Amino acid sequence: MSHGKIIWLKEVDSTNRYAIDNFANLEDGALVLAEQQTAGRGRLGRVWVSPPQGNIYASFVMKDLQYPAYHASRIGGMAVLATLREFAPDLKFWLKWPNDVYCREKKICGILCEAKTGKDNSPEGVVLGMGINLNMSSEALKSVGQPATSLFIEKKCKVNSKIFAKSLDIRLNRYYSINSTSPQEFFALWKSENILIGQTVEIMTGKEPALTGKIEDIGPEGELIFSSGDKVLRLYSGDITINKSSINFDGLL
Ligand code: BTN
Repeated sequence: MSHGKIIWLKEVDSTNRYAIDNFANLEDGALVLAEQQTAGRGRLGRVWVSPPQGNIYASFVMKDLQYPAYHASRIGGMAVLATLREFAPDLKFWLKWPNDVYCREKKICGILCEAKTGKDNSPEGVVLGMGINLNMSSEALKSVGQPATSLFIEKKCKVNSKIFAKSLDIRLNRYYSINSTSPQEFFALWKSENILIGQTVEIMTGKEPALTGKIEDIGPEGELIFSSGDKVLRLYSGDITINKSSINFDGLL
């Protein structure tokens, strides 16, 4: 298994922007990390709050994709999950569709997968951006605007972000390769970490009002299959907000 280089930056606007603009010069499997971002990008045009607090702001470069680019984000979710479990084996982490990693009922990591296209719009690869709240204080987390947590808050001790990043890098490269050789097995593994499948929840898709129904499954294209009354929705992108009080985490984790 080949390993791309790790590139450590002190400060950058966005590691995803950096990786996309320098795509041609970066190795396949390279990981770009920054201590802080001044314009961290979140999904759906949101801002990713990125202070210099020993968090992980990382972008993984993938040039060799034999599958549609949107399947690539799974590699990030699984690698982050495994690394968090290595550093905090007693805590409970899970995946929330489409791309978030949660610690019980709070978000701890967000993933932004961006396609790199050439001049004629031809696909060249994907940059997988991961923001992991590693050592962020509860004070700093107040500016995030949604219930979020950090490993520091949950573990009550700091984690060395360099050591964490190296471990994450190994897993990203490993899962990148497994996803190419055994995509179906990897998809099944990823799906099994989406613990809300089969649960009755209240969700908001951005279109009011909230819908109560059941998360039936995740389809082969990564779409969320949700039933509410006699309607079945297939969500291919976007975000869902789940009413956490409708979920019994103790029974699930
Ligand atoms: C989300 O909205 O949940 C996704 C957040 C992704 C943030 C990461 S931090 C590293 C990389 N660089 C960016 O500008 N964004 C991603």
